[in-house]
Amino acid sequence: MATVTKESNMTTVTKICCIGAGYVGGPTCSVIAFKCPHIQVTIVDLNAERIAAWNSDTLPIYEPGLDEIVRACRGRNLFFSSDVDKGILEADLIFVSVNTPTKKSGIGAGLAADLAYVESATRRIARIATSSKIVVEKSTVPCRTAESMRAILEANSRENIHFDILSNPEFLAEGTAIPDLLKPDRVLIGSLQSEEGKRAQQALAAVYANWVPRANIITMGLWSSELSKLAANALLAQRISSVNALSAICEATGADVDEVAHACGLDSRIGPKFLKASVGFGGSCFQKDILNLVYLSESLHLPEVADYWRQIVTMNEYQKTRFFELVIRRLFNTVTNKHLAIYGFAFKKNTGDTRESAAITLVKQFIKEKANVHIYDPKVDDAQIEMDLTDPSVATPAEFKKHVTIHHDAYSCAQDVDAVVILTEWDEFKTLDYEKVYRNMNKPAFIFDGRLILDTTKMKKIGFQVDVIGRQVY
Ligand code: UDX
Ligand code: ADP
Repeated sequence: MATVTKESNMTTVTKICCIGAGYVGGPTCSVIAFKCPHIQVTIVDLNAERIAAWNSDTLPIYEPGLDEIVRACRGRNLFFSSDVDKGILEADLIFVSVNTPTKKSGIGAGLAADLAYVESATRRIARIATSSKIVVEKSTVPCRTAESMRAILEANSRENIHFDILSNPEFLAEGTAIPDLLKPDRVLIGSLQSEEGKRAQQALAAVYANWVPRANIITMGLWSSELSKLAANALLAQRISSVNALSAICEATGADVDEVAHACGLDSRIGPKFLKASVGFGGSCFQKDILNLVYLSESLHLPEVADYWRQIVTMNEYQKTRFFELVIRRLFNTVTNKHLAIYGFAFKKNTGDTRESAAITLVKQFIKEKANVHIYDPKVDDAQIEMDLTDPSVATPAEFKKHVTIHHDAYSCAQDVDAVVILTEWDEFKTLDYEKVYRNMNKPAFIFDGRLILDTTKMKKIGFQVDVIGRQVY
């Protein structure tokens, strides 16, 4: 049985367990194992299929650079296992990195985070642990979740066992997870301000200090740390909704949203990042975290604050609707029985993740309009696309089969279609042979750029009818 060793009032971590082998837990703890060869890292998950994939040559998630990291330390000090209890028993420090989706029913439905997975993992730690442990909240959770975790652990644990709870939110972005983890802007570690809490905080800080400069490891109170994660995501999403709101003004006035964003971003107080207009942000975090913030504000009886944050999501929905309506309008007000090529289904480039992808909303709308939709994405699995679009309110399985065709090549996807609709900014879409794409399309051939990646002058020259978010194309 492993114990937390205390050397000169400092706790040393030698065995880490991560509960949850998903987009966050997998890459984060693989990088910890890579950078800390003296620490044994075991990533556990209830999903045995997912664990088998982590132990295979085809990892369950696509993330540039991840394969190399896993290959370097799997079997050395990095292990993937479905034996959750063994992982808990052996560890000094446990990351809880399970999913926290938005609640679908009950109190707070559509806004609050569903903490059932966090609670179940926490109860399991309490039941199984036979020695003191540091428990780290890694999943994005509403403010004050750590308090609930502590209550569960304290009420259910054995005698003489002490749990320290830390908040250590993840700031990695999918597609760049590995560089984000190798060189984080900052690592946040929140704890209670007790002696034990601070000691646990220092123990985790020492793990990160193996590769992150001390100045970038920030310690603070638990609640500040939890709220900082929600706040950071809300602020990033707010920039996108702001620039998307401007894109509507640009389309109406003749201004160019890329030029406006560039001009604003040169102001050092604003900065250039996260000012790219798009068909709408997606991903597992932004919408969920903002809705968490809305729910928190409402619970605290701060309706004006709740309305303020909610507007970011409202604007995001508006952007998707606007783009959908543009496609319909340009295709002579109907897409019924027309063929549309969808370029990109992931919520951003360099990931196979589709959670909250704008493409899901758009394609469902096209299917409802009885269009024939052809989809190509370089990384998203066919089964994932089918799962995302299977919705009884949109199409029966038979209708789905009739209306949706998945392609594995951008050119076959656009063969005999009326329009190409770009929904993800994959680099490959910038360099396609668009003359070839054009030749094989029905005429007039339309192209809609929801990511502002095309050279519109070139597209016009080829013969396309071109539409871009945030700019009039002459
Ligand atoms: C985000 C945060 O960036 C990360 O810190 C946090 O840990 C998790 O949530 P992620 O959702 O993986 O990361 O990707 P991100 O790069 O933030 O993109 C989110 C969405 O915004 C994507 O759909 C992306 O295409 C869109 N986006 C991003 C824009 O539309 N315009 C931009 O300028 C930037
Ligand atoms: P994230 O993007 O937050 O990492 P994912 O859905 O990709 O979310 O991953 C979360 C993982 O957590 C899933 O693989 C799920 O099977 C796992 N999980 C959820 N609850 C538990 C639990 N109680 N014990 C072990 N694994 C769990």
